[in-house]
Amino acid sequence: MTFDQRIKEALDKYPTKNSALLPILYILQEKYGTISQIAIEEAAKWTDSSPAFVYGVFSFYTFYKREDEGKYRIWVCSTISCSVCGCKSLYEQIKNYLNLNGVTTTPDGLFTLKKAECLGACEIAPVVQFEDEYIGNADIETIKNKIELIRTNESKL
Ligand code: FES
Repeated sequence: MTFDQRIKEALDKYPTKNSALLPILYILQEKYGTISQIAIEEAAKWTDSSPAFVYGVFSFYTFYKREDEGKYRIWVCSTISCSVCGCKSLYEQIKNYLNLNGVTTTPDGLFTLKKAECLGACEIAPVVQFEDEYIGNADIETIKNKIELIRTNESKL
């Protein structure tokens, strides 16, 4: 099935075009690799929306890949429940471990570290979203292990 066919199929499942925006963005992310300006404009066309509206929706969610991000994204929730449970310190520890000085992506393009607004899993704070996986009660050892596993796997490619 082509990307266009999949988008049409997604549109058929929703009562209005712009309510299909999230699945359409997923399809376009598969098509382009990231949500680029081209993907935003294409999503706007399919949903009869403005690119600004699409950008507003896309930029709210952490599951879509931005063009300037590394291959693996690490989002540290920085909202209230996670703050109380030490996310600020965890963010700094990950930042130091990845040697990120004034940048958010490692020089090898593998990891991007960002802060997120509430990830909707406050009961397991502090929460880290590692690519599409949520890690609850996150600590630096768990994150380090994941980073090293990826580094090992990537070195075999
Ligand atoms: S505040 Fe972190 S998941 Fe809600």
